[in-house]
Amino acid sequence: MFHGRGGKRRSWPISERYSLNMDEKAGSPTVLRDKTIAVYFRSSPMAYKLLPTVLLVLCAATLLTMLYVSQSRDAVVLVHPGPVDVHNELHNTNPCLALGTHSWSDSVPYGWPGLLINPSNASDVLRGSTTDIVNRIYNNMCPGHQTLPNVQFTFPDILLIVDFNHPAHYNIISYLELLYRRYFPNILYCGLQPETLKKQIVAEKLGFPIYYLHALKDNWQTKYECIQHAMKMCDNFTGYLLIGDDTLINMTNFERTPKYKAMVGDEFVRTGEHMNTTQFKYSWEWWGAEGGRSAMLGVLNELSFRANRDNDHLAQEFLRNYYSFVNDSTIFHMMAIDFLYVPKRLSSIFLYMTSLFLKYKTNVEVAIPFFVCGLQHPGDVHFVRMISLWANDRDNSQKRFENDLVYLHPFKYHAHFKNAPQGKDFMCQNYLRSK
Ligand SMILES: *[C@@H]1O[C@H](CO)[C@@H](O)[C@H](O)[C@H]1NC(C)=O
Ligand SMILES: *[C@@H]1O[C@H](CO)[C@@H](O)[C@H](O)[C@H]1NC(C)=O
Ligand SMILES: *[C@@H]1O[C@H](CO)[C@@H](O)[C@H](O)[C@H]1NC(C)=O
Ligand SMILES: *[C@@H]1O[C@H](CO)[C@@H](O)[C@H](O)[C@H]1NC(C)=O
Ligand SMILES: *[C@@H]1O[C@H](CO)[C@@H](O)[C@H](O)[C@H]1NC(C)=O
Repeated sequence: MFHGRGGKRRSWPISERYSLNMDEKAGSPTVLRDKTIAVYFRSSPMAYKLLPTVLLVLCAATLLTMLYVSQSRDAVVLVHPGPVDVHNELHNTNPCLALGTHSWSDSVPYGWPGLLINPSNASDVLRGSTTDIVNRIYNNMCPGHQTLPNVQFTFPDILLIVDFNHPAHYNIISYLELLYRRYFPNILYCGLQPETLKKQIVAEKLGFPIYYLHALKDNWQTKYECIQHAMKMCDNFTGYLLIGDDTLINMTNFERTPKYKAMVGDEFVRTGEHMNTTQFKYSWEWWGAEGGRSAMLGVLNELSFRANRDNDHLAQEFLRNYYSFVNDSTIFHMMAIDFLYVPKRLSSIFLYMTSLFLKYKTNVEVAIPFFVCGLQHPGDVHFVRMISLWANDRDNSQKRFENDLVYLHPFKYHAHFKNAPQGKDFMCQNYLRSK
């Protein structure tokens, strides 16, 4: 259990739930039933401090970034800065944001992805090319093993976004680098409390730029907000893959997925898990809270209004798709979101829907299933094989990492990798060495 600093309480996301009533059989779906015991903190109200100064900072930061990028040859973050044409940006009605560098001494603004660069001149521990950095981390975490084999494929066109459940988890960035940087040249870390991240960067002497987004304050909206803000940047990514800080991906299986479709886990289609709008209480206890039932009814109501009164084509198409896929007008599906891929070609409908979700403060675990249900099926959606582990099953996560999975949740880096011999062997000898 975690508390935020300064005594502020943070909600504990659904992905941290523990269930008593589990199906233990390997390979069978783990279904949460009505006996779920959940320990939560109430969500603190979202404090909006939107970016009054961002535009001013932008120009200066863009110049700094241009300088930085032109000087570094081995930059790990390969995000390309956009063209610096202030004139154009000011006259464009929908300008994208150029990549900037966050101030180290001042606070990091909300909602603006940018680079955090360790100011310490002694921060050379993890400096160098991606291969150098990853091999150094590997030698440190897996002593006695050789260098890592080259990977067979990479995803330069996909931005990997890691959502941190809690700022305390910033201490696993090296693990994430080790697992994913070879495949994803571009990783955006998204979370709260940038000051905690800065401390971690200094403590671990991370010498490479950390691409970072200071997320908004409500855990239940952070995930779709991370993608939403990433989509505002000037870049050429063809897709955005968001994962949790404890999601373990099988890269071979991910490589085979259709990147032109939106992707989420297949759990709710396999199990049919849903909430019924005629009821207030459910095992998923957020149904009755802000972001649950009333938010979903608000979103649906507004979509119907726009479709009927405003003749809004996006709303009409969304509702048509939605009701041709969802088989009951009073249910909403729900699922823990530890993996979400959105191709750029679907960004307009994604942004359209997430702006509605934000308006009603919709909880991500009902919002995202709703979003994918309203896409064209099966043309725009792919449900990936995945497994969510609960309770004791979490002690040996790696045992459940079956060959057909695209991802498993959770794999905790300190508990399962650093401090568990079986987990460490799995990582050092199997996972990291598979090609
Ligand atoms: C780092 O900077 C400090 C003060 O700015 C200076 O005294 C020190 O010599 C520098 N160290 C190196 C290795 O450059
Ligand atoms: C995106 O790609 C186009 C064409 O290759 C290029 O001209 C442009 O500079 C790129 N933009 C960014 C932000 O990398
Ligand atoms: C939802 O609840 C209503 C009554 O409250 C019931 O008639 C209906 O069958 C339920 N729908 C589903 C899919 O469980
Ligand atoms: C609704 O029913 C159709 C046809 O039986 C099925 O293909 C689809 O997966 C169902 N939708 C959901 C969300 O379960
Ligand atoms: C990933 O999946 C492939 C099959 O697609 C399998 O051969 C491989 O062993 C899996 N990797 C791990 C680390 O389990």
